[in-house]
Amino acid sequence: MRKPVMAGNWKMNKTRDEALEFIYAVSDKLPSVNQLDSIICAPAIILRDLVKRQGSNLKIGAQNVHFAESGAYTGEISPAMLSTTGVEYVIIGHSERRAYFNETDETVNLKIKAALAHQLKPIVCCGESLEERETNKTHEVLDRQISKALEGIDKEDLSNIIIAYEPIWAIGTGKVASAEMADEACGYIRSLVKKQYCPACAEEIRILYGGSVSTKSVSELMAQPNIDGGLVGGASLNSESFIELCNKAI
Ligand code: PGA
Repeated sequence: MRKPVMAGNWKMNKTRDEALEFIYAVSDKLPSVNQLDSIICAPAIILRDLVKRQGSNLKIGAQNVHFAESGAYTGEISPAMLSTTGVEYVIIGHSERRAYFNETDETVNLKIKAALAHQLKPIVCCGESLEERETNKTHEVLDRQISKALEGIDKEDLSNIIIAYEPIWAIGTGKVASAEMADEACGYIRSLVKKQYCPACAEEIRILYGGSVSTKSVSELMAQPNIDGGLVGGASLNSESFIELCNKAI
């Protein structure tokens, strides 16, 4: 049995005060950590503050990390720096980072390796554009993204990796993929893990769906056999809505 996950991706939202208000509001209203991994991925500047107040049922993640140990990378944050904040997770390869900050399948792979080396658990994003979906290239894109992302990653490390399938056309658009469509893609990703590693690895790895997940769509998505949780942007910003998402995910 795979433990479900509900991960909020706040993107570039919330000041420190707003973030703390959220943390206090959700603190005793989330399902137990035995039932669900509830995660908030917040801007780097407030991570330490959130980790200090996360409580027992909430985990904190970052939204990005650099792959180098240190060096002349103005404005970037190394995996060692990130791990000193006490975060457990880090989103890697979100489509917004690929689109606006030139992240490639190669840098995604380097970042996953760097994160794992510092005991950070990667939430690895993949997913096709609208044009790729409409020209039947979804599998081809997932094939490329997943095989490259996991290149050179040991089988033993897979249990610390979460994959998030996020079709670009569904992110922030209100256009959620149908539950069947999302499940088919997550199932395909699972088959790629099976091919690249082993059947047990595919059974164990947790795969999330992301893209306009809401309190309305979450239950149907979670009921799908290949979907183990959600990576949620907009609907994770409000504490009431995040609590509802988490409770509906179990
Ligand atoms: P959304 O964002 O839920 O606002 O569509 C999801 C994401 O980008 O991770």
